[in-house]
Amino acid sequence: MKIFLDTANLEQIKEAASWGLLDGVTTNPTLVSKENMKFEDLIKKICSVVPGPVSVECVSTKAKDLIEEGRGLAKLADNVAVKIPICVEGLKATKVLSGEGIKINTTLIFSSNQALLAAKAGTAFVSPFIGRLDDISHEGMNLVDEIVAIFNNYGFETEIIVASIRHPLHVVEAALTGADIATIPFSVLDKMVKHPLTDIGMEKFLKDWSKVKR
Ligand code: E4P
Repeated sequence: MKIFLDTANLEQIKEAASWGLLDGVTTNPTLVSKENMKFEDLIKKICSVVPGPVSVECVSTKAKDLIEEGRGLAKLADNVAVKIPICVEGLKATKVLSGEGIKINTTLIFSSNQALLAAKAGTAFVSPFIGRLDDISHEGMNLVDEIVAIFNNYGFETEIIVASIRHPLHVVEAALTGADIATIPFSVLDKMVKHPLTDIGMEKFLKDWSKVKR
């Protein structure tokens, strides 16, 4: 499974990249609003440190405007993936932009039908939002299971990005579904490395090593 970071924070992105396991980044308007940098400069900088796709979200609502905005975002860097929320206008724009070779990430996916339509329109990625479904007492991971099965049934090449991840167990569950990618907040990625028994084990090994005759 590929690991993307779900952030627009450069320090977090550089840190995760230094771990050698970063495959991409997803941003959205909320995440970029937290950074104190001009939007285009921020995206160009992020794209220069990430060895994979960087999703950047459109804010237009009409197909014509989405197409223009998407083309502009794609010009910022070779590894930009243009994020478009699922809707009829978004599907029209996806068909045109993906036909031009621009990678689209269809976002705000909350049903498998939405994912199916986006895949048929030629999107490169679909982003089902798991945590937000869990928040309203729906089992978010069931949606991922359905999309994995549907894409496998018909051989869609669209990759599934499990999004709105809130804790390490979401990542385990995402990996068990066979989803292609998990996009993870840095705080969750950090927790994934840790285990109390590892800490106890390391402390004991270091203590015992100090007793070894050298
Ligand atoms: C995905 O691309 C989105 O940026 C993100 O996962 C949304 O997560 P949230 O529900 O924590 O805002």
